[in-house]
Amino acid sequence: MLIEVRAVPLHRQPAETIVIPLFEGEALTGRPWQGVDQALRGLIAGLLKSGEFKPSVNATIVLHTPRTPGDRKLLPSERVVLVGLGKAEKVTPRTVCEAYGAAGKKIRELKRRSAATYVPEGSRSGDYATALVEGLILGQYDFRRYKTEEKADGPEAEEPVNLESLIVVESDARKATQIDRAMKRGLIRAEAVAFARDLQNRPSNDLTPQALAAAAATMAQEAGLSCEFWDETDLARWGMNAILAVGQGSANPPRFITVKYEPRGKATATVILVGKGITFDSGGISLKPGQGLEEMKFDMSGAAAVLGAMYGVAQLKPSVAVWGIVPAAENMPGGSSIKPGDIVKCYSGKTVEITNTDAEGRLVLCDALAYAVEQKPDALLDLATLTGACVVALGHKAAGMMGNNEALLTNVQAAGERSGDRVWPLPMWEDYDDLLKSHFADLDNAGPPRVAGAIVGGKFLEAFVGDTPWVHLDIAGTAWGDSDTPTTPKNLGSGYGVRLILQFLQDFKPS
Ligand code: BES
Ligand code: MN
Ligand code: ZN
Repeated sequence: MLIEVRAVPLHRQPAETIVIPLFEGEALTGRPWQGVDQALRGLIAGLLKSGEFKPSVNATIVLHTPRTPGDRKLLPSERVVLVGLGKAEKVTPRTVCEAYGAAGKKIRELKRRSAATYVPEGSRSGDYATALVEGLILGQYDFRRYKTEEKADGPEAEEPVNLESLIVVESDARKATQIDRAMKRGLIRAEAVAFARDLQNRPSNDLTPQALAAAAATMAQEAGLSCEFWDETDLARWGMNAILAVGQGSANPPRFITVKYEPRGKATATVILVGKGITFDSGGISLKPGQGLEEMKFDMSGAAAVLGAMYGVAQLKPSVAVWGIVPAAENMPGGSSIKPGDIVKCYSGKTVEITNTDAEGRLVLCDALAYAVEQKPDALLDLATLTGACVVALGHKAAGMMGNNEALLTNVQAAGERSGDRVWPLPMWEDYDDLLKSHFADLDNAGPPRVAGAIVGGKFLEAFVGDTPWVHLDIAGTAWGDSDTPTTPKNLGSGYGVRLILQFLQDFKPS
């Protein structure tokens, strides 16, 4: 998408559509949409004044620009989309993103390729500029990789039209520069989220661990990152037995993927990202019930977030070095599967009794985290669709956050607020440690059923990170949703975590 900041007012822009963001209780004079309103003979002010359009969050209405006798256009734009932001004092970057997601959907329905708008006013206009671009692009996201009948007859089957150019109006030159930078960042971030979604949405027969490694390698090549992956022979040689244990019941062997970004000049710090890459989680011998099992193709959403973030990092070029690590495996029942009670010796040297083969995410992660710790990163972040318990606790609105370092936890939470990928902290008191005691090995991988499930998952991982500043995000609830939102279609991956990571790296201050 082409993005431009221009000083010329909205009603003179050569765009097919105009998007006007409106606050509840919006003043009716002296607004950036005044020129458009005048051209429309006071229609917008009229709708607001009469209450026929109430700018509550994500409300939209499409206005047609009337033609005068002699067919003179009152505005260059044929359509004006009004979108509600709700109360000004409650607006956040997340609200702006969602509102523009709703606007993006309308523009797609209208099959228009260009739009003009302005950044909603507020103390965080830079963040709003980023968010509005993200909203427009992600609101128009869909996934057609496996559709072969696009060109068939009927309106439904027509080729979709997406926005190709966006003009943002700003007359103050200093602000215009800031907005331009923020919008370019939004574009990169939205494309990184879309990359992650495209990976998430591929089913497990197409996206096996090998295919995930291939996708990472292709992305790295195109983005100018280095990429390396280990196969099952390498994993055996390295002693990554927990990853091997999870993958041993499947015809599709595991892979260990590392993608690296190095800044030009000396890196100010190193951040390692680890993403759970279970391409399908049947539960293994501790088989899951059949209901909704197809959703377990999304169990590689942590991996998708990490690879999507790496794709964004390659373009945003932060001054810190960033590694993305993905332990990828398929968790299947079979004659060679791990069985409840089996004990494995992990890469770290610790032994784990696998009382539940469905707690496989923490097994692939424990080897990856132990390996990451050896690289002595300044910060270590993992993202994983780790527990159903986290979905019970927080629903689909925030990821569960756990960790061992207050400063890092604070920064990750702030990045979540700023980017709209929200997180919420869960406690990690030592009192929970007994839940992971095993009779036979150093650790039990599962803990008792229905007791602090999300925390137990975090506690298990904590045993492998030592003193390295580390944060674990349980994204089981946020990786995909149970309902449509303006920026995330139901039944599709959300790309959650990509923007949080990119925001975190943007704000990262080496200590
Ligand atoms: N991938 C699942 C967690 C999950 C469940 C993610 C639902 C998204 C939606 C994970 O591997 C798992 O099965 N966890 C178990 C852990 C338990 C056996 C300790 C769970 O949550 O039941
Ligand atoms: Mn599982
Ligand atoms: Zn899983």
